[in-house]
Amino acid sequence: MGCPLSAEAPRSWPPGDDENGGSEDDVVQVSLSAQIREVIKQSWREIQDDVSRVGIIMFVRLFETHPECKDVFFMFKEVDDPETLRTSRELRAHGLRIMSFIEKSVARIDQDERLDQLILDLGRKHYVYDAPPKYYEFVGAEFIQAMKERWTSEQEDAWKTLFLYISSTMKRGFKQEQRNQRNQSDVLRRPSVSVSKQV
Ligand code: HEM
Repeated sequence: MGCPLSAEAPRSWPPGDDENGGSEDDVVQVSLSAQIREVIKQSWREIQDDVSRVGIIMFVRLFETHPECKDVFFMFKEVDDPETLRTSRELRAHGLRIMSFIEKSVARIDQDERLDQLILDLGRKHYVYDAPPKYYEFVGAEFIQAMKERWTSEQEDAWKTLFLYISSTMKRGFKQEQRNQRNQSDVLRRPSVSVSKQV
């Protein structure tokens, strides 16, 4: 079956790999059709029990394919051995955090505003973590890869679209926080104006 969202879906997966996540204008506009929302809800139920396994596989693969991502996590910076990564408690915890975020997103999938708020907040936090947008799409790509054998092409397309939605909305949040921080430091740098009384 073809991609039900081909008009919005990227030509290749993962899409754009620009250096700093591009400007805010570059953020891809993605919409979730009613059909995609249904497929996501249905298929999430099927994998719910497997989330810890998928969470860790996803991150070990991310570090193997994009070792530079490790630099964002101080504790993994020097670790090259895949087995050490696979058994790391911290990595498992991070994988689980992502999976529980996906769970929350699926629970809000029919409430556009709440869903966007959740994802924008996460993007803002990632600015603070110093985790740049150019990597977000790879997390989705690894998630899809880990689930490939189980899913039909319709399910796979729906999850690609959801991850594209998540990463582009996170990128907007990241950019918003970047702008806020820049505005704040501009205000702090501005010389204070002293008003002297004219007599
Ligand atoms: C779709 C992509 C991603 C999702 C959904 C995601 C999700 C999350 C979540 C839910 C948290 C916990 C936030 C909290 O404390 O409230 C987190 C933390 C964090 N993420 Fe991500 N993340 C993604 C991609 C990445 C990437 C690519 C990197 C690094 C290159 C990264 C680095 C971090 C770091 C450093 C933290 C804070 C430390 C930690 O919680 O272990 N994230 N992420």
